[in-house]
Amino acid sequence: MIKKKFEIKNLTVGYNKKTVIHDLNLDIYQNEVLAIIGPANSGKSSLLRCLNRMTDFNTEVNVSGTVLLDGENIYEDEDSTFLRRRVGMVSPLPVGLPMTIKENVTYAPRMAGCKDQRELDFIMEDCLKKAALWDEVKDRLNGLATKLSGGQQQRLTIARALSHHPEVLCLDEFSIAIDPVTTMKIESVLHELKKSITIVMVTNVISQAKRLGDRTAMMLNGKILDLDQNDKIFGGHTKDSRTKDYIEGLFG
Ligand SMILES: Nc1ncnc2c1ncn2[C@@H]1O[C@H](COP(=O)(O)OP(=O)(O)OP(=O)(O)O)[C@@H](O)[C@H]1O
Ligand SMILES: [Mg+2]
Repeated sequence: MIKKKFEIKNLTVGYNKKTVIHDLNLDIYQNEVLAIIGPANSGKSSLLRCLNRMTDFNTEVNVSGTVLLDGENIYEDEDSTFLRRRVGMVSPLPVGLPMTIKENVTYAPRMAGCKDQRELDFIMEDCLKKAALWDEVKDRLNGLATKLSGGQQQRLTIARALSHHPEVLCLDEFSIAIDPVTTMKIESVLHELKKSITIVMVTNVISQAKRLGDRTAMMLNGKILDLDQNDKIFGGHTKDSRTKDYIEGLFG
């Protein structure tokens, strides 16, 4: 039987009094790539942020319902720091920490107590290679991360997320500032990674959902309109005609 990594039940999310996710139910399976598509403002990022309680940092947000990770409610624990190590998040706009490239990628393992320089160097190189950034930065590892280009900072964020060895990687429009060739390199890494982790990927690029996803969910107005295996969703067998129209660029 396929293991459920996340079980989301009756999730409702609001900012102040405005509800943006309505009573949403969703299971995410272990080792799948779940792509989430849908027009702007449909609640894709809001849903993703609930998976590692990024919502804790916003006092205006209200979350109700349950989000189970490996069967345990992630909203029950006082401290969500450990959760964010298990569930990594890559946001659409890169946020390089104001430190060197090396310090950025080794920050998480150092915080976790790793002091062995050789091991830290290994983790750094491995994560930077997986994020398709190593070749561009290997000669300037002690340079400031904030001086990298937008696309490079985006890839650094991916490397940093991987340095936590997350069980789940949430990607919110990760390729927004990355050129197509580099995007394909990262996509092939993600394809490899799903053997060991679960990937939840919000994307506005329909072809990316089609290439990378095992299943695709279509969101609209804070609800999941459609959710199915990719061959169904992209083979014209959508449950809701608006999903097909959105994929074909006729709606959204
Ligand atoms: N931090 C916030 N504070 C207040 N309202 C917010 C916040 N984040 C999102 N919203 C609102 O929630 C709704 C859903 O936004 P969300 O960012 O989840 O949509 P999205 O599907 O990711 O859209 P996009 O494709 O444009 O990124 C929008 O109406 C938005 O204005
Ligand atoms: Mg968004």
